[in-house]
Amino acid sequence: MFKRFEQLFGVDLGTCNTLIYQQGVGIVLREPSVVAIHKETGQIEAFGEQAYAMIGRTPANLEVVYPLKDGVIANFDMTSAMLKHFISKIQGKYNWFRGSQIYISVRCGITEVQKRAVEEMIVHKGGRKSVTIEEPLAAAIGAGLPVADPIGSMVVDIGGGTSQVALISLGGIVVSQYVRIGGMSLDQDMIEYVKRKYNLVIGERTAEEIKKNLASAVIPEGDVRMDVRGNDMMEGLPKTISISSKEIYEIVDQFSMSIVETIRQTMEQCPPELAGDLMERGILLCGGGALLHGLDRRLQQETGIPVHLAEKPMECIAHGAGEMLSYKLLASGHHSAGSSKPSKITETDAVLEQVSGK
Ligand SMILES: Nc1ncnc2c1ncn2[C@@H]1O[C@H](COP(=O)(O)OP(=O)(O)OP(=O)(O)O)[C@@H](O)[C@H]1O
Ligand SMILES: [Mg+2]
Repeated sequence: MFKRFEQLFGVDLGTCNTLIYQQGVGIVLREPSVVAIHKETGQIEAFGEQAYAMIGRTPANLEVVYPLKDGVIANFDMTSAMLKHFISKIQGKYNWFRGSQIYISVRCGITEVQKRAVEEMIVHKGGRKSVTIEEPLAAAIGAGLPVADPIGSMVVDIGGGTSQVALISLGGIVVSQYVRIGGMSLDQDMIEYVKRKYNLVIGERTAEEIKKNLASAVIPEGDVRMDVRGNDMMEGLPKTISISSKEIYEIVDQFSMSIVETIRQTMEQCPPELAGDLMERGILLCGGGALLHGLDRRLQQETGIPVHLAEKPMECIAHGAGEMLSYKLLASGHHSAGSSKPSKITETDAVLEQVSGK
């Protein structure tokens, strides 16, 4: 009886951003995955948006940290406290979070122990039941791809800390690859470049601004410029320089080619019939890094596979996790005979069986 009123939530706990989606409602929380801590006492002073606003502006006794690194939890206590804070924020409005079912997305290739730790953390925070789902599978569901069908779909997720490429068929991940590069490493590359070329030290947030305004994965047509402020390394004084989209192209080019290489490596392991599906259906590009100017075009040019940018690249993972149960996913009968048989089926199968109650 009670079950009918049970709420379902999807959580995308990312290196940069945390999103919570409520089934049938939409995104109910979107905050940066950061906390501000007191250096001496270790006490947490601020979370999310509020902590993010402090980056590069903290007094000497405060430090802003990302409790997740490369898509996995690096500091368990901080992540747990941050999630507790986020949940309490939405509980104010949706006090039925307690007792709900929560689908939390995780990066491909994490261990069973890491998965269980995430699930237990969520249950501890008030969820009745918690199930992990691989991020590319959640993204595919969120974008409305026919994941349960015997058709190959490829997802390329460019996150903040990691980028993943996965091939999905029959509700499971057939092959996947991930690399430790993403939007944040691109920001670091911008910081290094400005330091090398202009002897100017810039902050993380300035680097991100440069990336959003000037970076292009295809050769920039015009020459867009931006004034950038930082600290002169020689004189130690504030200085403003002008940077152009053309001069940072090389950095973005290297980044794009690393993604192309990861797609190639994944394709090499792809069963031939699924490869045929991909040529026809194309790649779903998602994650915040997918918003990099021209990345969809560039990946298409380099791989020869059509690339479709997700409608809401930063939301589709949380959305897919939260709508998991609305999809009629095949829980059994995956292994049809023939050459299109997936070469490797992950534990996702077990998850699908669990959620579909078979
Ligand atoms: N318009 C844009 N152009 C380029 N990059 C962008 C844009 N908007 C957001 N980003 C980048 O997207 C990244 C965040 O993406 P996302 O929220 O998908 O990461 P995440 O899920 O938190 O990380 P991960 O998946 O690695 O754990 C940041 O590095 C941010 O700078
Ligand atoms: Mg992500």
